[in-house]
Amino acid sequence: MKKILDLMTEQFEQAFSRCGYDAGYAKITVSNRPDLCEYQCNGAMGAAKAYKKAPFLIADAVVAELQNNELFEKVEVVKPGFINIIASEQFLASYADQMAEDPALGFEKTTPAKTAVIDYGGPNVAKPLHVGHLRPAVIGECLKRLLRFAGDKVIGDVHLGDWGLQMGLIIEQLRSEQPDLVYFDENYTGEYPSEAPFTISELETIYPAASARSKEDEAFKERAHTATLKLQEGYRPYRALWQHILNVSVTDLKKNYENLSVSFDVWKGESDADPYIPSMIDDFIAKGLAHESQGALVIDVEEESDTKTIPPCIVRKSDGAALYATSDLATIIQRVQDYKPDEIIYVADNRQEMHFNQVFRVTKKAELAPDTRLIFHGFGTMNGKDGKPFKTREGGVMRLETLISSINDAVYEKIMENRTVSEAEAKNVAKIVGLSALKYGDLSNQSSKDYIFDIDRFSSFEGNTGPYILYTIVRIKSILEKYEASGKNAKDAVSVNKTQTPSEKALLVELVKFNDCIDAAYTELAPHRICSYIYSLSNAFNKFYHENNIMGESDEAKQSGFISLLKLTEKTLETCIDILGFSAPDRM
Ligand code: ARG
Repeated sequence: MKKILDLMTEQFEQAFSRCGYDAGYAKITVSNRPDLCEYQCNGAMGAAKAYKKAPFLIADAVVAELQNNELFEKVEVVKPGFINIIASEQFLASYADQMAEDPALGFEKTTPAKTAVIDYGGPNVAKPLHVGHLRPAVIGECLKRLLRFAGDKVIGDVHLGDWGLQMGLIIEQLRSEQPDLVYFDENYTGEYPSEAPFTISELETIYPAASARSKEDEAFKERAHTATLKLQEGYRPYRALWQHILNVSVTDLKKNYENLSVSFDVWKGESDADPYIPSMIDDFIAKGLAHESQGALVIDVEEESDTKTIPPCIVRKSDGAALYATSDLATIIQRVQDYKPDEIIYVADNRQEMHFNQVFRVTKKAELAPDTRLIFHGFGTMNGKDGKPFKTREGGVMRLETLISSINDAVYEKIMENRTVSEAEAKNVAKIVGLSALKYGDLSNQSSKDYIFDIDRFSSFEGNTGPYILYTIVRIKSILEKYEASGKNAKDAVSVNKTQTPSEKALLVELVKFNDCIDAAYTELAPHRICSYIYSLSNAFNKFYHENNIMGESDEAKQSGFISLLKLTEKTLETCIDILGFSAPDRM
């Protein structure tokens, strides 16, 4: 379906043309003075300059053309030449009815559909997920759903950190703790056990121990380096051990992401890029792009227009080891080969901007992905109430699991205060509502900005929060239930009222913005736009709910119109929260 603003703009374009003015001035926007009108057109102001006429003369002529237009109830000029617009109730009603019939609520899929890889999550094997992993997971999942809703083919890739020094550290720490393992017996030639020599909780203590030790014990760190290199070169026992670390860790990661309703289509990691590295490096050298610098191989990426220095990208260290940038570059080659993507979106911390800048520049210089747009979708830091990066009370890094349970607990308390559900149900509902608090709290901010993680605010049932949106949905569900319980069938309600009460119309005005909102969120990769849309929509609904007696309405046709409106509001809210990556309970 065409967007409502486009439909209205078309009418204005014709009017401008008929009056002899360029149709380019006819653009309509949502009113910034909702107390005066619903929509506005400021085109006469711009046209006045071009045609050297008083703006109100132009506006007057245009408005005269639009009297009795069935899209508008009122089109009027206000001095000096603005045009205020009130949409016709009939027009909004029939638009809403068409939306209700379409599973995509009138949003037209993008053509041609593009293929996008989204690189998000980025957990590191053998390290527990901590609060820093929340944003890439939540934002990436939402972008994946948004692009899919818009019709794109999307491949979500977790891009595991599974290849770096942490692997060597774990191997060396294991050797100290369990020297008798067959993996450390150089003369062993048999099959390696299929069972891992550690559990996930053991693994989670091994890495921190190893990491702390490497900071004090140079010799240990050196051994870890060597082990990493040997692993990367394919040394059989270390590969076997590494496979165990990977399996145990990935099983646990999947469980944790599932709790966040976050999923990936592919579980590739930095290690998967490894086979592409040697030929890539040869290519860099053959193309004359790479040169030696202090034993390392580097590529200059400065450009003349740079205002700050962009250091050369190191693609191979002096000891031959690959770096973070090397593996990202090789991964680009792998992705182009496997998926031919039109774009690759990296959801990563703002602090990695320089890294991606270097990687993108090398990609361009070496023509690794000429048909692929590389997008860095950087996100800001999640801060505590003190404005500093979020920490535990003791000042440590909080595990993601701990963060999730603390928000679920806060929501549980609130649900129990309301006491509409049993304790057992409250526990389940708290998980659903807690997730909305967490995700909405994050996504309602522009991704690139820092935000303050505030449990009390995020879990509140009032204000611009996830629970408030869910509360609105639950309220609609309960009215629909009552309607059914009164012996009527909500399915029979198929069209909204053609004439409306003021708050009923205001709700329609919000509803019909849906495809405009999704379009903006999609083109700007901006989940926060969906949040602000559903917040306004929920506010409009709740006002409508308070000002109209839905269940008490004695005119059955009118009541059925209300019910249609409720159903459309619910479907729109549910569609939006599904894109955001959470869902609503039946009661709360
Ligand atoms: N594992 C990385 C980290 O913990 C994030 C990965 C981001 N994605 C990428 N392709 N570099 O910092």
